[in-house]
Amino acid sequence: MTTQSMQTTPPTQTTPPTLLHLDASARRRSFSREAGDAVAAAWRATHPGGIHVHRDLARTPVPQIGEAWTELCDHVLEHEITDPARYREAVRTPAQEAAWAVVEPLLAELLAADVVLIATPMYNYSVPASLKAWIDQVTFPRMSLAGRRFVVAYARGGAYGPGTPRHPYDHQERYLRDFFAGHFAVPEQDMTFLGTELANSLTDPALAGRRGAHDASRAAALEAARTTGASL
Ligand SMILES: Cc1cc2nc3c(=O)[nH]c(=O)nc-3n(C[C@H](O)[C@H](O)[C@H](O)COP(=O)(O)O)c2cc1C
Repeated sequence: MTTQSMQTTPPTQTTPPTLLHLDASARRRSFSREAGDAVAAAWRATHPGGIHVHRDLARTPVPQIGEAWTELCDHVLEHEITDPARYREAVRTPAQEAAWAVVEPLLAELLAADVVLIATPMYNYSVPASLKAWIDQVTFPRMSLAGRRFVVAYARGGAYGPGTPRHPYDHQERYLRDFFAGHFAVPEQDMTFLGTELANSLTDPALAGRRGAHDASRAAALEAARTTGASL
């Protein structure tokens, strides 16, 4: 993990390409980690001089936001501060200083990235609390991340694709897509979602008959990960 200075505009061709890679699975042997690692390996092979920043949100969780964080956010909103380089102006008390000390390195990593790779399991139809805590820390009002590519490598126990009975319950991909587009102004074409489904077929006797479909999904995810990582 590295920490970079705050950079407010999307990275340019004069800086080395940078990949911010987040993991969020509580498991070490994890399908989302596997797919995310494949994306990162392909990206590194394509960008030998690139900077790969890895942050494991499950092993080293970021704290939940507290009241002082909300005061920073309120100040930014009230004073119509949209340039992240000016967020520091919101710090007025020791508690806010402590909150900012958590935010600043997370935000610097995000803003320095050309590509944001998020490897995430589905937990209870959505994303893990560890990932949500990171999103809450780094997200400020009217913050655009347009110009960056977002890749999500997901894993889930069941099947949630279009046309399946569980599709309406997918608040993992749906949430991330809506948030990237709706809050960060990331166009649809700059987002890639790939992943492994039916992981529970390995443990749930009721899903044992779906192991073939799980294997196929995992193989497709790894292929998509390699192709995507090389194309970024
Ligand atoms: C706390 C928890 C909640 C889960 N909730 C769901 C769920 O709502 N839907 C689902 O399909 N699978 C669910 N699963 C199964 C995981 O999505 C599945 O094990 C997946 O492979 C986890 O990703 P990973 O392999 O990267 O750890 C859950 C697993 C855990 C541990």
